[in-house]
Amino acid sequence: MPSLTVSLSERSYSIDIGHGNLDRAGAFLSSLGGGTVSHAVVLTDEHVSSYGYARIVADAIADAGIDVSLFVIAAGESSKSIETAATLWETLLEDGTDRKSVLVAVGGGVIGDLAGFIAATFARGIRFFQVPTTLLAQVDSSVGGKVGINLPGAKNMVGAFHQPVGVLIDTATLETLDATQYACGLGEIAKYAVSLDAALFERLESDAADVGRRDRDILSEIVFRCCEIKAGIVANDERETTGFRALLNYGHTFAHVFETLVFETLGDYRLPHGQAVAVGCVCAARLALKLGRVDTAFLERQIRLLQRLDLPTSLLDLGASIEPKRAVDLMNRDKKVENGRLRFVLPIELGRCELVGGIDPRTVMEAIECDT
Ligand SMILES: NC(=O)c1ccc[n+]([C@@H]2O[C@H](COP(=O)([O-])OP(=O)(O)OC[C@H]3O[C@@H](n4cnc5c(N)ncnc54)[C@H](O)[C@@H]3O)[C@@H](O)[C@H]2O)c1
Ligand SMILES: [Zn+2]
Repeated sequence: MPSLTVSLSERSYSIDIGHGNLDRAGAFLSSLGGGTVSHAVVLTDEHVSSYGYARIVADAIADAGIDVSLFVIAAGESSKSIETAATLWETLLEDGTDRKSVLVAVGGGVIGDLAGFIAATFARGIRFFQVPTTLLAQVDSSVGGKVGINLPGAKNMVGAFHQPVGVLIDTATLETLDATQYACGLGEIAKYAVSLDAALFERLESDAADVGRRDRDILSEIVFRCCEIKAGIVANDERETTGFRALLNYGHTFAHVFETLVFETLGDYRLPHGQAVAVGCVCAARLALKLGRVDTAFLERQIRLLQRLDLPTSLLDLGASIEPKRAVDLMNRDKKVENGRLRFVLPIELGRCELVGGIDPRTVMEAIECDT
């Protein structure tokens, strides 16, 4: 089974990738150093639970001789809330969770972020283990230790850096993802390719059709490569203090404001994150073009790949539109603005990018305007 290490001295951990390997969870937990595991709490959402993934994980843990409890919560972003966190803290207390317990997240990024946050805070920190079941969680959110919940008006506003003790990826779980969730993962994969790995970009170009039909071998290679890229960056800038980890955010400054503005306008509708990222990548490339950093061929090649992966390249493809001026105002209020100046991850060439500051807001507006 292919395996990678996230090298963070005493917080190092492995990422194991396979197909049909959920039952390895028990062996993994029983092999953990740093004190024996007396008890495991598996957390999943009702949707993931209906496919039986969490049950396989829980049974494998029980077979390894570890006491196990399984809790199922409502699916969806609204579970990353203070209310759900408070309920879970109480549930863990009643379940006898202590510092020898491990919290096991079986699900997408919502379950991973929430379980990680609960693990970071309960009893001043217990161990947690990630079993990501969406493509987005497998290539992105399960690795790197950013955990958290949302405040009513601010996504991921309360959280921590809390690394998992391991990540177990079963690419067979991707077979049950709906088309939108699958596309969301592809949006993040395209982000890695354009900004950090030209070879991955070329691979996606040549094998887009196989990727589209979820070919098992290609998927595990791609998931492996994305985890490898993220692991390398996290190992060098775990807490995003040097600007290096920020390079993982290509397209994200645009995507975040698109998500916020569409949510504000349409009330209960959220743009799917990975699809918003795909559109954000187009805006970032267009901004780079306007700043003379890349040529038109770069922008067009990126758009062609996104289209071949069935990803949106404009907000209009997602049935949404926003006011560019409002988007830039919102970017100025974002937590990533430094000294009042907008910063973006912009490409230098295929597979290479850098963090660029001091960009004129009017140019940013123009990069969005072409899209609305
Ligand atoms: N921590 C990080 O570094 C990081 C990075 C990126 C995103 N995130 C967070 O991740 C979250 C989004 O993650 P997501 O897209 O995985 O969303 P999600 O967890 O809500 O999962 C999407 C949907 O897919 C369902 N699902 C999960 N696995 C499935 C499977 N195998 N088959 C069928 N359905 C399945 C879920 O029940 C849910 O309905 C956001 O809250 C975002 O903030 C965190
Ligand atoms: Zn993202």
